[in-house]
Amino acid sequence: MSLCIVANWKLNGSREFNQQWALEFFKHFNGDNFSSLGIAPASVYIDHLQGIFNNRGIKIGAQNIDFLETGARTGEISAPMIKDLGCEFSIIGHSERRILFDETNQIICQKLIQANNCSLIPILCLGESDEENQANNTFNVLEKQIIEALTGITELSSLIIAYEPIWAIGSGKIPNPEEINSVHEMIKDVVQSRFPKIGLKSVLYGGSVNFKNASSLFKQKNIDGALIGGASLDGKEFALIANVFNELKVLK
Ligand code: PGA
Repeated sequence: MSLCIVANWKLNGSREFNQQWALEFFKHFNGDNFSSLGIAPASVYIDHLQGIFNNRGIKIGAQNIDFLETGARTGEISAPMIKDLGCEFSIIGHSERRILFDETNQIICQKLIQANNCSLIPILCLGESDEENQANNTFNVLEKQIIEALTGITELSSLIIAYEPIWAIGSGKIPNPEEINSVHEMIKDVVQSRFPKIGLKSVLYGGSVNFKNASSLFKQKNIDGALIGGASLDGKEFALIANVFNELKVLK
């Protein structure tokens, strides 16, 4: 099964945190199939988490990769390095990277190519601002992000998209699940009609996902999973969200 429930730990974590998180997670997760679960810790802890989850099947990934493979780029981490650590995926183009680190769709496009070259599954993040949402511009904004990020890519063996409205991230606000469902349907249509050679595996939703709202989200046909920030920092809550996902999407 492809990645469906993914934790984005952002700038959080420590060796102690990682150990405690795993204890809580294993205490509360009911399933026995871990292959749909992913964790993106800060890169310095990738190795530590690979050790903790060794052989359990949870996929470990990066929150970001550089758009170049090597070079004079102090502080950056390349896709081949992430692959070398045993990772299977990388988040690309998160709105925090776009806003705080000036990542353009053109840079994101280069990062997608880097990920593909190393057989890392890219999780491409898209999302509109509050103003764009208020102005009913969501579809246009997302379509532009998709087209600019994917144009020029002739082949991408697998792609996951995460729809993350910027105003929903860390705010406790989410669009209503039916609206998210129709946005996901539109994303799938745009990718499939304009980029038929790109293997879009799934469209996840991200932005204030928690245990309480998980079932209303996973009941929607086109919401294939979730990218989770704040709530994923609690091993128990992440496990409970994954349990809801299994009940509604896997065991059904
Ligand atoms: P949040 O973050 O779950 O804390 O809203 C989601 C994300 O930024 O990926």
